[in-house]
Amino acid sequence: MTIAIRPAQGQDVAAIDGLLRDVFPRADEADLVRLLCVDGDMVLVMVAVDEDSGALAGMVAFSRMEVDIAARSIVSVALAPVAVALRYRRQGVAEALIQAGIERLEAERVVLCFVLGEPAYYTRFGFHADYARQFASPYAGDQLMALPLQGGLMPCGARGAARHARAFARLSSDSPSG
Ligand SMILES: CC(C)(COP(=O)(O)OP(=O)(O)OC[C@H]1O[C@@H](n2cnc3c(N)ncnc32)[C@H](O)[C@@H]1OP(=O)(O)O)[C@@H](O)C(=O)NCCC(=O)NCCS
Repeated sequence: MTIAIRPAQGQDVAAIDGLLRDVFPRADEADLVRLLCVDGDMVLVMVAVDEDSGALAGMVAFSRMEVDIAARSIVSVALAPVAVALRYRRQGVAEALIQAGIERLEAERVVLCFVLGEPAYYTRFGFHADYARQFASPYAGDQLMALPLQGGLMPCGARGAARHARAFARLSSDSPSG
């Protein structure tokens, strides 16, 4: 099996929506992706495609955030959601998607990537709650983590605020987990 990782294209929209509806118990994540796109807050969607069958194996989305420290804006994104179809799991598909997305964002001068999720999973990428604790957020807590990009280039020790795109607040579960 060969899995190709690439940025999503228009032709992937229906498959992404279908995958999110299959993988999550509620429609929240599918709705989130739709709202982020409609609001113009989607920064990057990466997909994993099974090159043998053409099936969508997985996806990850990154959306614009408003993050500032002392009135200085820090170019930041939120990772959410990430999803891999059942039959493609535990083969590193999510890891490849996240790594590929982060590489692209780094090249686009993104300084911080936030995620709300399981520390046991996301710390392997370098996400850590300590970085996120510098920022006031309605999602603050051990599960809100951040990954500094650009070689860790980020004001140190200063307090700031981190606001997710408004689509997150419209989710019924109120949890923008990655
Ligand atoms: C989470 C998910 C994207 C992982 O996809 P995947 O392609 O199987 O992930 P990878 O192969 O890169 O990594 C698998 C590893 O992640 C671990 N893992 C998966 N979900 C985890 C979780 N919630 N907490 C901790 N570890 C987790 C697995 O135990 C496995 O660890 P191992 O390699 O040490 O055995 C996939 O399980 C999924 O789509 N789940 C449903 C949707 C979801 O919960 N998304 C995250 C919240 S938006």
